[in-house]
Amino acid sequence: MTMVEPQRPQGQGDHRAITASAGRLTGVTDTPVAPATLPHRTPRVPADELVARAQAIYARMDQRRSVRAFSPDPVPREAIDLAILAAGTAPSGAHMQPWTFVAVDDPVTKREIRLAAEAEERMSYEERMSEEWLQALAPLGTDWHKPYLEIAPCLVVVFEQITGVDDDGKPRKHYYVRESVGIACGLFISALHEMGLCTLTHTPSPMGFLSRILGRPKHERAMILFPVGYAADDATVPALTRKPLEQLRMWNPSGSP
Ligand SMILES: Cc1cc2nc3c(=O)[nH]c(=O)nc-3n(C[C@H](O)[C@H](O)[C@H](O)COP(=O)(O)O)c2cc1C
Repeated sequence: MTMVEPQRPQGQGDHRAITASAGRLTGVTDTPVAPATLPHRTPRVPADELVARAQAIYARMDQRRSVRAFSPDPVPREAIDLAILAAGTAPSGAHMQPWTFVAVDDPVTKREIRLAAEAEERMSYEERMSEEWLQALAPLGTDWHKPYLEIAPCLVVVFEQITGVDDDGKPRKHYYVRESVGIACGLFISALHEMGLCTLTHTPSPMGFLSRILGRPKHERAMILFPVGYAADDATVPALTRKPLEQLRMWNPSGSP
């Protein structure tokens, strides 16, 4: 009988080597073992094709808008799962992957989230936000009403893991949590956009109600609430402009050529 090695997911490395390496770090073994590696080949793209691809990617990204009016039409759970998998490819500090994505398509929970978010947002708009903040939001036309939290077929709440939990249930340190989760959220938004779905980066504040409703542990904190779905047929978005290149990029500011 031939023994077949179980397939490892790409990028996971060699478990034996990792174990030996971890042993070296903890002083369990004297055998010096290098960290496990895998070959990585990125196909070389000629410069003119790079630029053509870059133009196409920018044109595509420039079409993305935050949507606040959704169709109630359902979206396949598989599409949401794949967008979450895409988000999970994000780089993260010390590869701790300090995120949890909670997807909700149950109407009862969506309603509970809407009501709790509106209660917080109402207080924010009526009492907590400064005049300066309200003025900054004015061009967006937003207020405390959040019907899209119930109308969108799916909500995805991204939690940052302030710490991890090791095998013994003890806290494990996480590094650059906000940066890591922010990057993962960017990939999530891009993945949805690429597949033809819309979302809104929504941050009802404070967001403690999401931990309560979704039963998340203390070491996780809700960071962003994404309603996900198709845009409503009559959806509109604020007429915003984006900074032109010369306002958002500098080359060699120290003056070298
Ligand atoms: C961190 C963050 C928090 C945001 N919070 C909200 C929010 O709570 N409610 C909302 O309507 N839009 C929110 N937005 C969306 C912004 O208003 C929107 O991205 C911006 O107006 C630009 O529009 P665009 O995404 O269509 O380009 C948030 C965006 C970011 C990045």
